[in-house]
Amino acid sequence: MSKFTHHIFVCLNERPKGDPRGCCAALGSVGLHAFFKKEVERLGLKGIVRANKAGCLDQCEYGPSVVIYPEGVWYWVGKEADVTEIMERHIGKGEIVDRLLMPGKNGSLPMVQS
Ligand code: FES
Repeated sequence: MSKFTHHIFVCLNERPKGDPRGCCAALGSVGLHAFFKKEVERLGLKGIVRANKAGCLDQCEYGPSVVIYPEGVWYWVGKEADVTEIMERHIGKGEIVDRLLMPGKNGSLPMVQS
């Protein structure tokens, strides 16, 4: 059994410039993943919460794409302040950060208002 309470998967996929699908790396996901790791440390959650690198999560149009398990909540994360809000509210308090929910991916969650 995993010792982690949460896994935060951040898409770091990179495609060549000009690819019509784009990619999360071009939208800053590499730096955002690093910032998730810093926030894990800042909040004293190292060994409890893990920020994982992920390949394409097939939600490229909404990137940078992030999914958090075990809840299976999908977020788009555009800047470091979004990371901090997810870490403090979702991870810290079990709240869903409605304003960052990825469209069309969270409709079955009981806690999400549509
Ligand atoms: S490139 Fe990030 S979800 Fe596809």
